[in-house]
Order: sequence, then C-alpha cells, then structure tokens
Amino acid sequence: MFITFEGGEGAGKSTQIRRLAAALEALGHTVIVTREPGGTPLAEAIRALILGPGASGDAMTQALLFAAARREHVRALIEPALAAGTIVLCDRFADSTRAYQGGRLPPSALDATISLATGDLVPDVTLLLDLLPEVGLARARARGRGGDADTFERADLAFHAEVRARFLALAKDEPGRIAVIDAGKGETDVAEAIRCVVDARLASKGT
Ligand code: TYD
Repeated sequence: MFITFEGGEGAGKSTQIRRLAAALEALGHTVIVTREPGGTPLAEAIRALILGPGASGDAMTQALLFAAARREHVRALIEPALAAGTIVLCDRFADSTRAYQGGRLPPSALDATISLATGDLVPDVTLLLDLLPEVGLARARARGRGGDADTFERADLAFHAEVRARFLALAKDEPGRIAVIDAGKGETDVAEAIRCVVDARLASKGT
C-alpha cells in the first residue's frame, strides 16, 4: 500500500509519519518511510540542487528536477517495495508538484512532467494535513529553520495561501483518495484522525 502525506510547511507531516509508521509496525506490517524530493542517493542529490542554498531556475526547470528525482525514487525504491508487500509512507509526492508548481506552469506541461515521472503509480491514500499558512510558517520558523530556510519556505504568505488552496482543490476533485486532516488540532488528535483513514483503507484492501 502506498500512502502519501501532503500539506504546507509546518503542518507536522514528519511527526505524523513517524507515529503512523510505528503504529503500523506494531500491527506487524513492514513499513518504509521516505520523502520527496529524495529517497535514493541520486534523488537526494537532486533535492540538494533544488532546495539548497543558491538554488535557482524557473518553475519549469524546478518541475523537471522534481520529476527527475521522482522517477528515480519510484523506479528504484517505491515500486520494488510495493511489489514486496511493504507499506510505503512518503512525505510529499506528485500532489506537491500540482500545489507548488501548479500556478506557474500550463496544465498540460504539469501533467506531462508528473506522468513521465510516476508512470501509472497513484497513491492508495493521501493524507492532506491542512493548516492555515500563517500558523504553519510560524511553526516552521519556530523549529529553527529561519536561517537556512529552503527555497519554498522563503516564499511569501500569499504564495503559501495559493498552495493551500490548490491542495484543497485537489482533495475536492479526488475525495476517494485524498483525506483532508485538520492539522491545527493537537498531535494525538491528528494521529487518531490519520489512523481512522488508514485503518479503513487497510480493511477495505483486506490487509
Ligand atoms: P521539505 O523540507 O521536505 O519541506 P516540508 O518539511 O515542508 O515537507 O522541502 C520540500 C519543499 O519542496 C517544500 O517546500 C515543497 C517543495 N516541493 C515542490 O515544490 N514540489 C514538489 O514536487 C515537491 C515534492 C516538493
């Protein structure tokens, strides 16, 4: 089963992924936690190019780099793990490209870069950790990354509000796959909401 986590900055994805991984392992599942951009040595090297200090390039260049990293990640790590029956938890996937690069590229170019990278791989379930961008950015800065914030963390509030709106629009289009989780609640409440969605999906797959 392929489960992705999406959302803006500071929504608590990493914490919730760790909690879900531990809960699923306790049930006897084999779990891999990975992230985008990244997840393999080549994709992590591309991540450093896109998000590192001095990163540049227009939206198309960025989308192509995200796509190159994703193709490598899908081919070398995600697909083999899924074929072996592992549950893959991934911090961001193609919905992030739609949300972050979406406003800056023609839809056909966006679709092409995504489908070249993913083939026909679509997450079984996507947890969208939804939070007001003001709150998320304040949390991201409070965790001490103000000084070395990445390319997208440095963008302004209006951009993050657009990203959030695009994520919510994606969830509206695909309610069967994307569950919107209120990430403004406490960590335990968010974890419980995530478990509800994932348990239902596991039950429906008979896993
Ligand atoms: P990361 O430090 O992982 O951010 P976060 O902790 O918020 O998940 O950095 C990933 C950044 O890359 C994040 O700002 C979103 C951006 N991104 C895109 O713009 N497009 C993409 O396709 C992906 C996967 C990420």
